[in-house]
Amino acid sequence: MRACEIDRFYSPAQCSRWYAAIPARVSCRRFQNELTAEMLTALHYTAARVCLPGVRIVLAECEDSLFVRVPVFGGISGAKRCACIFVNKQQPHAMTLAGISGEAFVLEAQSQNVATCWVSGTYRRKLVPAEPEEDEKLVALIALGIPESETSGMKRKRKALTDICLTPPAEWPHWAYQAAEAVRQAPSAVNLQPWRLNYGQQTLRLLGKRTDSLDMGIAMLHMEASVGSLPHAWVWGDYRCTAHLIVESGD
Ligand SMILES: Cc1cc2nc3c(=O)[nH]c(=O)nc-3n(C[C@H](O)[C@H](O)[C@H](O)COP(=O)(O)O)c2cc1C
Repeated sequence: MRACEIDRFYSPAQCSRWYAAIPARVSCRRFQNELTAEMLTALHYTAARVCLPGVRIVLAECEDSLFVRVPVFGGISGAKRCACIFVNKQQPHAMTLAGISGEAFVLEAQSQNVATCWVSGTYRRKLVPAEPEEDEKLVALIALGIPESETSGMKRKRKALTDICLTPPAEWPHWAYQAAEAVRQAPSAVNLQPWRLNYGQQTLRLLGKRTDSLDMGIAMLHMEASVGSLPHAWVWGDYRCTAHLIVESGD
């Protein structure tokens, strides 16, 4: 089995900050005001630090016209900045690595009180304010800013934990239960929550129909944030399994 690039890439301090940010993060589609210079500096630093191999995050200025209005979610307004996520087309597991890196960026932004919304579909490609480098493609944007109204307490619709776990999670070790709960809270495209989890032999397996996707990477980052301070290892999976998370000494 091949070691996964996320293995030992992020520090326990980053993981605990991101884990703490998970409950408060919701998608924000109405923003106000420009970010402060301090926030922008911190976000540029984060964009440079969180990217796994083959992923590049570029912060750029943007306008409302970048985003398309759609019936269910509406458009995105007031965002003066967005993060553009590029991947190298030769990179194996590129979409998953982009999901991991992008969600690390989202949770770091959340920990600095900057609101975000992943946008992989409802934007105008011709108006994207950053260019791919050779061999790169754009896979998503993240709208950024100060929310127009308070986001705390906003409801997130999620499946029950038992609906995403293949065996009863209450019977799993505590670390595996917590990691599954962290996945349950994660954002996903069209809120499909396409992940499934199974535990056995000190290993939590992340499963899904599309194994290499932004959603799977986002789930992996939530698992990593949850076990960050425990000794652990990641390996890539095969067939319907995106990755295995192994924790030998957890309770
Ligand atoms: C990979 C990904 C792509 C997304 N693409 C879009 C998009 O194109 N347009 C949009 O309005 N929201 C988009 N979203 C936001 C989701 O609709 C949102 O995360 C989901 O409905 C769950 O809501 P929550 O983030 O508030 O918990 C995307 C989210 C993810 C994770």
